[in-house]
Amino acid sequence: MSKNINTKLTKLIKYYSLINYNLIFNNKSINRYNQKQHNIQKDKAQSLKKLREEIKDIKNCKLKESASNLVFSDGNPNSKVMIIGEGPGANEDKEGLPFVGRAGQLLDKMLNAINLNREKVYITNVVNYRPPENRKPTDKEIEQYLPYLKRHIEIIKPKIILLLGSTAMNAILGNKDVISKMRGKWHEFKINKLKTYSIVSFHPAYLLRQPDQKKFSWIDLKMIREKLKKF
Ligand code: URA
Repeated sequence: MSKNINTKLTKLIKYYSLINYNLIFNNKSINRYNQKQHNIQKDKAQSLKKLREEIKDIKNCKLKESASNLVFSDGNPNSKVMIIGEGPGANEDKEGLPFVGRAGQLLDKMLNAINLNREKVYITNVVNYRPPENRKPTDKEIEQYLPYLKRHIEIIKPKIILLLGSTAMNAILGNKDVISKMRGKWHEFKINKLKTYSIVSFHPAYLLRQPDQKKFSWIDLKMIREKLKKF
Protein backbone atom coordinates (compact mmCIF):
# COMPACT_ATOMS: atom_id res chain seq x y z
CA MET A 1 0.00 0.00 0.00
CA SER A 2 2.65 2.58 1.06
CA LYS A 3 4.84 1.43 -1.86
CA ASN A 4 1.94 2.30 -4.16
CA ILE A 5 1.60 5.75 -2.67
CA ASN A 6 5.35 6.30 -3.02
CA THR A 7 5.31 5.31 -6.71
CA LYS A 8 2.38 7.65 -7.33
CA LEU A 9 4.17 10.44 -5.49
CA THR A 10 7.39 9.93 -7.49
CA LYS A 11 5.38 10.00 -10.73
CA LEU A 12 3.62 13.19 -9.65
CA ILE A 13 6.90 14.90 -8.75
CA LYS A 14 8.40 13.90 -12.14
CA TYR A 15 5.27 15.18 -13.87
CA TYR A 16 5.32 18.57 -12.18
CA SER A 17 9.02 18.97 -12.92
CA LEU A 18 7.98 19.02 -16.61
CA ILE A 19 6.09 22.25 -16.10
CA ASN A 20 7.86 25.50 -16.72
CA TYR A 21 6.37 27.83 -14.14
CA ASN A 22 7.59 30.80 -16.12
CA LEU A 23 5.26 29.86 -18.96
CA ILE A 24 2.35 29.45 -16.59
CA PHE A 25 2.81 32.32 -14.19
CA ASN A 26 4.79 34.98 -15.99
CA ASN A 27 2.48 37.92 -16.59
CA LYS A 28 5.05 40.37 -17.90
CA SER A 29 4.08 41.78 -21.28
CA ILE A 30 6.34 41.23 -24.25
CA ASN A 31 7.16 43.98 -26.71
CA ARG A 32 6.37 42.77 -30.23
CA TYR A 33 6.53 46.14 -31.86
CA ASN A 34 10.24 46.39 -32.68
CA GLN A 35 9.79 44.74 -36.05
CA LYS A 36 12.97 44.23 -38.04
CA GLN A 37 13.26 44.13 -41.80
CA HIS A 38 14.39 40.66 -42.74
CA ASN A 39 16.97 39.84 -45.35
CA ILE A 40 14.79 37.75 -47.66
CA GLN A 41 15.93 36.24 -50.94
CA LYS A 42 14.49 38.22 -53.84
CA ASP A 43 12.42 35.37 -55.29
CA LYS A 44 11.01 34.49 -51.87
CA ALA A 45 10.00 38.11 -51.29
CA GLN A 46 8.40 38.28 -54.74
CA SER A 47 6.50 35.02 -54.25
CA LEU A 48 5.18 36.26 -50.90
CA LYS A 49 4.12 39.57 -52.41
CA LYS A 50 2.36 37.77 -55.27
CA LEU A 51 0.58 35.41 -52.87
CA ARG A 52 -0.53 38.32 -50.70
CA GLU A 53 -1.93 40.12 -53.75
CA GLU A 54 -3.78 37.01 -54.93
CA ILE A 55 -5.39 36.61 -51.52
CA LYS A 56 -6.31 40.29 -51.54
CA ASP A 57 -7.99 39.75 -54.92
CA ILE A 58 -9.90 36.66 -53.81
CA LYS A 59 -13.45 36.56 -55.20
CA ASN A 60 -16.71 35.20 -53.75
CA CYS A 61 -15.54 35.28 -50.19
CA LYS A 62 -17.99 36.37 -47.48
CA LEU A 63 -15.14 36.63 -44.94
CA LYS A 64 -13.40 39.24 -47.04
CA GLU A 65 -16.62 41.24 -47.38
CA SER A 66 -17.13 41.52 -43.64
CA ALA A 67 -13.47 41.95 -42.58
CA SER A 68 -11.56 45.24 -42.35
CA ASN A 69 -8.07 43.94 -43.21
CA LEU A 70 -6.22 41.09 -44.80
CA VAL A 71 -4.17 39.26 -42.15
CA PHE A 72 -1.34 37.68 -44.09
CA SER A 73 1.53 36.88 -41.72
CA ASP A 74 4.00 38.03 -39.13
CA GLY A 75 7.55 37.03 -38.27
CA ASN A 76 10.62 36.02 -40.17
CA PRO A 77 10.11 34.44 -43.63
CA ASN A 78 13.53 32.75 -43.27
CA SER A 79 12.48 30.95 -40.13
CA LYS A 80 12.70 27.19 -39.69
CA VAL A 81 9.46 27.24 -37.70
CA MET A 82 6.12 28.13 -39.24
CA ILE A 83 3.12 28.51 -36.95
CA ILE A 84 -0.40 28.14 -38.30
CA GLY A 85 -3.45 29.30 -36.35
CA GLU A 86 -7.12 29.28 -37.23
CA GLY A 87 -8.09 32.76 -38.36
CA PRO A 88 -7.88 36.40 -37.32
CA GLY A 89 -9.95 37.74 -34.43
CA ALA A 90 -11.10 41.32 -33.83
CA ASN A 91 -7.65 42.66 -32.82
CA GLU A 92 -5.91 40.94 -35.71
CA ASP A 93 -8.53 42.29 -38.12
CA LYS A 94 -7.89 45.80 -36.81
CA GLU A 95 -4.09 45.58 -36.98
CA GLY A 96 -3.71 43.34 -40.04
CA LEU A 97 -1.34 41.04 -38.12
CA PRO A 98 -1.90 37.53 -36.74
CA PHE A 99 -1.96 36.75 -33.02
CA VAL A 100 -1.90 40.25 -31.56
CA GLY A 101 -4.71 39.80 -29.00
CA ARG A 102 -4.70 37.90 -25.72
CA ALA A 103 -4.05 34.57 -27.43
CA GLY A 104 -1.13 36.21 -29.24
CA GLN A 105 0.34 37.44 -25.99
CA LEU A 106 0.21 33.93 -24.61
CA LEU A 107 1.74 32.59 -27.82
CA ASP A 108 4.65 35.04 -27.39
CA LYS A 109 5.21 33.75 -23.87
CA MET A 110 5.09 30.15 -25.05
CA LEU A 111 7.67 30.93 -27.73
CA ASN A 112 9.84 32.78 -25.23
CA ALA A 113 9.85 29.72 -22.99
CA ILE A 114 11.81 27.85 -25.71
CA ASN A 115 13.96 30.84 -26.70
CA LEU A 116 11.91 31.72 -29.75
CA ASN A 117 10.19 34.95 -30.65
CA ARG A 118 8.63 36.62 -33.70
CA GLU A 119 12.07 37.19 -35.19
CA LYS A 120 12.65 33.44 -35.17
CA VAL A 121 9.28 32.10 -36.32
CA TYR A 122 6.85 32.81 -39.14
CA ILE A 123 3.13 33.00 -38.32
CA THR A 124 0.00 32.74 -40.44
CA ASN A 125 -3.56 31.37 -40.26
CA VAL A 126 -5.75 28.93 -42.16
CA VAL A 127 -8.00 31.79 -43.32
CA ASN A 128 -6.66 35.29 -43.89
CA TYR A 129 -9.83 37.26 -43.14
CA ARG A 130 -11.69 37.40 -39.85
CA PRO A 131 -14.71 35.09 -39.54
CA PRO A 132 -17.57 37.21 -38.11
CA GLU A 133 -18.14 36.93 -34.35
CA ASN A 134 -14.96 34.86 -34.11
CA ARG A 135 -16.78 31.76 -35.32
CA LYS A 136 -14.75 28.88 -36.75
CA PRO A 137 -14.18 29.03 -40.49
CA THR A 138 -16.58 26.74 -42.36
CA ASP A 139 -15.36 23.72 -44.37
CA LYS A 140 -16.08 25.68 -47.55
CA GLU A 141 -13.99 28.64 -46.37
CA ILE A 142 -11.13 26.36 -45.34
CA GLU A 143 -11.27 24.67 -48.74
CA GLN A 144 -11.14 28.05 -50.46
CA TYR A 145 -8.03 29.18 -48.54
CA LEU A 146 -6.18 25.86 -48.37
CA PRO A 147 -4.42 26.17 -51.75
CA TYR A 148 -3.07 29.58 -50.67
CA LEU A 149 -1.93 28.19 -47.33
CA LYS A 150 -0.16 25.31 -49.04
CA ARG A 151 1.61 27.73 -51.38
CA HIS A 152 2.52 29.85 -48.37
CA ILE A 153 4.20 26.81 -46.78
CA GLU A 154 6.01 25.99 -50.02
CA ILE A 155 7.37 29.53 -50.22
CA ILE A 156 8.54 29.67 -46.59
CA LYS A 157 9.97 26.11 -46.64
CA PRO A 158 9.90 25.61 -42.89
CA LYS A 159 11.56 22.60 -41.30
CA ILE A 160 8.91 22.48 -38.58
CA ILE A 161 5.24 23.41 -38.67
CA LEU A 162 3.36 24.03 -35.44
CA LEU A 163 -0.37 23.58 -35.96
CA LEU A 164 -2.31 25.42 -33.28
CA GLY A 165 -5.78 24.03 -32.71
CA SER A 166 -8.03 21.65 -34.57
CA THR A 167 -8.82 23.92 -37.54
CA ALA A 168 -5.14 24.14 -38.52
CA MET A 169 -4.58 20.45 -37.78
CA ASN A 170 -7.63 19.25 -39.74
CA ALA A 171 -6.79 21.52 -42.70
CA ILE A 172 -3.13 20.51 -43.00
CA LEU A 173 -3.16 16.89 -41.88
CA GLY A 174 -6.52 16.28 -43.55
CA ASN A 175 -7.95 14.43 -40.57
CA LYS A 176 -10.93 14.81 -38.27
CA ASP A 177 -9.05 13.90 -35.12
CA VAL A 178 -8.98 15.79 -31.85
CA ILE A 179 -5.91 17.61 -30.57
CA SER A 180 -5.63 15.56 -27.40
CA LYS A 181 -5.11 12.44 -29.53
CA MET A 182 -2.72 13.96 -32.07
CA ARG A 183 -0.53 16.23 -29.95
CA GLY A 184 2.81 15.21 -28.49
CA LYS A 185 4.10 13.47 -31.61
CA TRP A 186 5.66 14.35 -34.94
CA HIS A 187 3.72 14.00 -38.18
CA GLU A 188 5.51 14.02 -41.48
CA PHE A 189 3.94 16.46 -43.90
CA LYS A 190 4.81 16.63 -47.60
CA ILE A 191 3.82 19.11 -50.29
CA ASN A 192 5.36 18.30 -53.64
CA LYS A 193 9.12 18.11 -52.96
CA LEU A 194 8.93 19.79 -49.59
CA LYS A 195 9.09 17.53 -46.54
CA THR A 196 8.42 19.04 -43.12
CA TYR A 197 7.78 17.83 -39.62
CA SER A 198 4.59 19.05 -38.12
CA ILE A 199 3.44 19.00 -34.55
CA VAL A 200 -0.04 19.71 -33.29
CA SER A 201 -0.72 21.56 -30.06
CA PHE A 202 -3.47 23.33 -28.19
CA HIS A 203 -4.50 26.75 -29.47
CA PRO A 204 -3.47 29.53 -27.04
CA ALA A 205 -7.11 30.75 -26.95
CA TYR A 206 -8.07 27.30 -25.63
CA LEU A 207 -5.22 27.45 -23.10
CA LEU A 208 -6.57 30.77 -21.83
CA ARG A 209 -9.85 28.99 -21.10
CA GLN A 210 -8.23 25.77 -19.85
CA PRO A 211 -4.93 26.78 -18.20
CA ASP A 212 -4.49 23.31 -16.69
CA GLN A 213 -3.75 22.07 -20.24
CA LYS A 214 -0.62 24.25 -20.46
CA LYS A 215 1.46 21.41 -19.06
CA PHE A 216 0.79 19.45 -22.26
CA SER A 217 1.58 22.36 -24.54
CA TRP A 218 4.86 22.76 -22.65
CA ILE A 219 5.74 19.17 -23.57
CA ASP A 220 5.01 19.96 -27.25
CA LEU A 221 7.10 23.13 -27.09
CA LYS A 222 10.04 21.23 -25.65
CA MET A 223 9.75 18.72 -28.51
CA ILE A 224 10.13 21.65 -30.92
CA ARG A 225 13.14 22.95 -28.99
CA GLU A 226 14.77 19.50 -29.22
CA LYS A 227 13.94 19.03 -32.92
CA LEU A 228 15.38 22.44 -33.79
CA LYS A 229 18.78 21.30 -32.54
CA LYS A 230 18.89 18.95 -35.53
CA PHE A 231 18.56 21.72 -38.13
N1 URA B 1 -6.42 33.08 -33.24
C1 URA B 1 -5.90 32.57 -34.39
O1 URA B 1 -6.09 31.42 -34.69
N2 URA B 1 -5.21 33.39 -35.15
C2 URA B 1 -4.97 34.65 -34.86
O2 URA B 1 -4.32 35.33 -35.64
C3 URA B 1 -5.49 35.15 -33.65
C4 URA B 1 -6.21 34.35 -32.85
